Amino acid sequence: MQTPSSRLETRAVHAGMAGVRESGSHVPVIDFSTTNPLGDVDSGGSSYEGLATGHDLADGASAVYQRLWQPGVARFETALADLEGSEGAVAFASGMAALAATLIAAASAGTPHIVAVRPLYGGTDHVLASGLLGTDVTWTDVDGIAGALRPDTGLVIVESPANPTLELVDLRRVADAAGTVPLLVDNTFATPVLQRPIEHGATLVLHSATKYLGGHGDVMGGVIAADAAWVSRLRQVRALTGGLLHPMAAYLLHRGLRTLPLRVRAQQQTAMELAIRLGAHPAVARVRYPGLPGQDPAGLVGTQLEGPGSIIAIELAGGYDAAARFTEGCRLVTHAVSLGGVDSLVQHPASLTHRPVAGDAKPDAGVVRLSIGLEHVDDLTDDLMAALDLAALETGVEGGECERADAAAASAAGS
Ligand SMILES: Cc1ncc(COP(=O)(O)O)c(C=O)c1O
Repeated sequence: MQTPSSRLETRAVHAGMAGVRESGSHVPVIDFSTTNPLGDVDSGGSSYEGLATGHDLADGASAVYQRLWQPGVARFETALADLEGSEGAVAFASGMAALAATLIAAASAGTPHIVAVRPLYGGTDHVLASGLLGTDVTWTDVDGIAGALRPDTGLVIVESPANPTLELVDLRRVADAAGTVPLLVDNTFATPVLQRPIEHGATLVLHSATKYLGGHGDVMGGVIAADAAWVSRLRQVRALTGGLLHPMAAYLLHRGLRTLPLRVRAQQQTAMELAIRLGAHPAVARVRYPGLPGQDPAGLVGTQLEGPGSIIAIELAGGYDAAARFTEGCRLVTHAVSLGGVDSLVQHPASLTHRPVAGDAKPDAGVVRLSIGLEHVDDLTDDLMAALDLAALETGVEGGECERADAAAASAAGS
């Protein structure tokens, strides 16, 4: 079945559902089979050969074995590719498994040099800096990309908005600088609802599907959207290294896509309001959020990025101590890593997600990252302001009820 609309909301609901209605079901049936019955030996062998070398399931072929092909995983991949506007997608057990497969594919092509722009998610930074997968990394900024390329550069990697400090990267500029070198964009924070990197020159789009795509904090997964040649290469790496997505996880991720536009936009609406309110508290030295005035000098919100999203980083005036008190002082908002779910989370990147990042590239100790969920904005405001009051008290920065009232009034007035 062709997805019946060019509109993202309709495609999010119907993509990847081919044949479901015809089979008499309303939603896809989850197939947990690890192995699949084969016909004759010759056709079994040729099915195996095709799938293990990166081809899609041919008409009439057997799926052979879950590590090679799985129908629910294929549905999720079709749907995600539809939303990202790519030729295909390959799903993995986690975002890191998706990244690892991409690095293995790049290194096995004899091009183990990677050019990467910081900040990146701490795990991505760690795997690149460690050289664990046989790659050699040059860290640079956007202006330095062209000069950092070498004949053996196999990949340029950027993240936008970046984890955890929300810097935006002009993807078209990066793609131009990368030239013929494939560009991988981590699109986890934006999701295809807010940004489709392939439209701006990316070759590969990575998601920690664990975050917004699943959206409920109950499923791990990763996915790469790409052209047919990369899809084939990545399928082969997945088949041979085994970082595959479980059928239950594929089902939940596919289901998550159906509400993705609604969730992303509602969470964003709340974050936009909170970013203003939080900035009015004296314990906050700076709010990093691309929707605030002055934080998008290249004018990417509204062009490359539909909206600023629902991750906010706040920098506490009292540094590490204030960040720690604030984080521990949240009650409604849970102190936990991860992001993108229906409930709000807070974490301290320098201690947790970005702990392995080299000293000079590590986020400041006063920075706290918030992932804004679907709770009512006033309940979140009460919780976060109370935690800020606590941080202010314990670190000797002035703050409290009176500033909170001022902030709410300013925000209600649209300032
Ligand atoms: C931006 C980003 N990319 C990649 C990852 C890795 O994904 P996963 O935890 O699903 O392996 C994360 C995880 O937090 C992330 O935030």
